[in-house]
Amino acid sequence: MSVLEIKKYPDEVLRKRSRRLAGIGPAEEKLARNMLDTMYFSNGVGLAAPQVGILKRIIVCNPTGQKKDELVLINPKIIKEFGRKVSDCEGCLSIPEMSAEVKRASKAVVEAQDSTGRVFRLEAEGLLARIIYHETDHLDGVLFIDRLSILKKMRVIRKYKKRMGISCIGRSY
Ligand code: CO
Repeated sequence: MSVLEIKKYPDEVLRKRSRRLAGIGPAEEKLARNMLDTMYFSNGVGLAAPQVGILKRIIVCNPTGQKKDELVLINPKIIKEFGRKVSDCEGCLSIPEMSAEVKRASKAVVEAQDSTGRVFRLEAEGLLARIIYHETDHLDGVLFIDRLSILKKMRVIRKYKKRMGISCIGRSY
């Protein structure tokens, strides 16, 4: 078991676009395993590779915490976004202790590859759909706070900075 370090906002890596994987080998399989370990260790329900500083299009999730519901999605692509828009409380392992109501479609059809490279299609709804939307956003450098109104976003950032003892958030030179 390997628990990786989770990059925290405002780390620049969280704002970069991840690369599509041309081939899936033992390195990706091992990364996915370590990401799952990291997610469980942190009591998360999902994790994307850029959150551990690796710009590869890999996400892992488990909405229930039961082994059978574990999912690895490599090169995930949202094929269809549908269902009614639902608001629910959302947080992020990269923005610890912060949460807000985020509005997202309640269902999703996603196409991805598993750790062996096999392509599969999945129809998700409820929490699983929300996790998939949240994690695929990470692959494009988008965070849940970007889905809030500008006022709510500023409020969350202000609270976060206070909590983390950050006096300002700027670029790292
Ligand atoms: Co997140």
